[in-house]
Amino acid sequence: MKNKLGFQTSFSLKAYNTFGIDVRAAYFASPRSIGEMQELCHLVPDFKRLLVLGGGSNVLLVGDFPGYVIHPIFQRIEVLEENADRCLWRVEAGVNWHFLVSYSLQQGWQGLENLALIPGSVGAAPIQNIGAYGIEIAEFIYAVEGLDLSSFQLLTLPKQACEFGYRDSIFKKALKNKFIVTAIILELFRNRQPNTEYSTLKQELEKMKASPYSTQDVFEAVCRIRRRKLPDPATVGNAGSFFKNPEIDFKHYTLLKEKHPDLVAFALPGKRYKIAAGWLIEKCGWKGRAIGGAAVHPHHALVLVNKKDATGHEILRLAEAIEKDVYENFGITLEREVNVIEGNSF
Ligand code: FAD
Ligand code: EPU
Repeated sequence: MKNKLGFQTSFSLKAYNTFGIDVRAAYFASPRSIGEMQELCHLVPDFKRLLVLGGGSNVLLVGDFPGYVIHPIFQRIEVLEENADRCLWRVEAGVNWHFLVSYSLQQGWQGLENLALIPGSVGAAPIQNIGAYGIEIAEFIYAVEGLDLSSFQLLTLPKQACEFGYRDSIFKKALKNKFIVTAIILELFRNRQPNTEYSTLKQELEKMKASPYSTQDVFEAVCRIRRRKLPDPATVGNAGSFFKNPEIDFKHYTLLKEKHPDLVAFALPGKRYKIAAGWLIEKCGWKGRAIGGAAVHPHHALVLVNKKDATGHEILRLAEAIEKDVYENFGITLEREVNVIEGNSF
């Protein structure tokens, strides 16, 4: 049902989140232009009750959402600058991420190939600084454009102001609930050597052919790995990695390594270590286990799935049980990557 303010009421979000959780939003709108979105935002009484939803591939909806959901569908792609080696593209928030990756490569521009097949929208890409197979989007972001909800002005933040980190940015911290990404400005390149350093990617390329590898080879290898490793949300509801890979210090790492020689860890600068959260969860015996309709994927312990008609509460309970076990066994607090939206908590 459409109400006169442009929001639909009591709107099902089942098709708008990749966990496939069956909840409703009190109000829902899909603005087709930035101007339309600005008008809709004027109607929202309190921005704590606003949820911006792209593809819903990094959210867990727990309960009905009693506020306003805005789902941007503006989709323009503009060339701002271009020369023989480099270009700047302005891409609006509603463009599908994987479409952008494929389209940029078709146009002969390189950079995004390692980020193929990540679900979701362009507008969400800077929020957690999406990353895969040795690349983070921050590397190619020139600026982020968005609506500042305190002034209703459109602002352009240069990359340096976005405070990008591993699965992190200013949009998850100081600007949370205060800024809607309307477009990103990307810097792409010609004649750029593809990044093939990530070990799983290198192995996949070696299986495919002998080097040298083109950008297209990297794109294909990434697609092959992802199709093999990760469940397709169209078949099994999920939101990719549920937790971030945690970082620990040298002392903690040495203690764990002595106890668990098979610990999967990667050295970081400053004597810190990134630990594979999938390994920690598998080691606690969670792989394949279920709570109600929620389960840990049998092939990848970092991915929680909606096995059968799970509620958001069931998936959250599973996540909490895993967090408790990992803390008790390893002294590590897992941080959630997925944004848990507890609708009825305000
Ligand atoms: P949503 O889930 O709709 O939103 C995510 C968060 O961003 C929410 O807090 C939302 O409010 C906010 N948000 C969305 N749009 C805007 C906007 N325009 N302005 C302000 N805030 C906004 N992620 C990776 O980094 N690497 C991976 O390799 C990866 N693999 C995945 C594999 C699978 C199978 C799945 C299901 C997910 C994977 N993800 C991965 C997670 C997810 O795809 C990304 O985080 C993606 O960027 C989310 O996009 P979305 O449009 O679906 O965002
Ligand atoms: N592992 C296990 N058991 C498991 C799963 C993994 O022991 O059940 C160990 C294995 O040793 C494996 C290692 O963990 O080699 C790493 O696993 P994988 O290569 O699948 O990568 P990941 O660390 O689990 C991260 C990102 C992914 C991204 C891939 C590729 C995070 C939280 N996740 O996963 O991003 O696609 O690397 O770069 O950083 C996402 O963010 O949603 C996501 C899917």
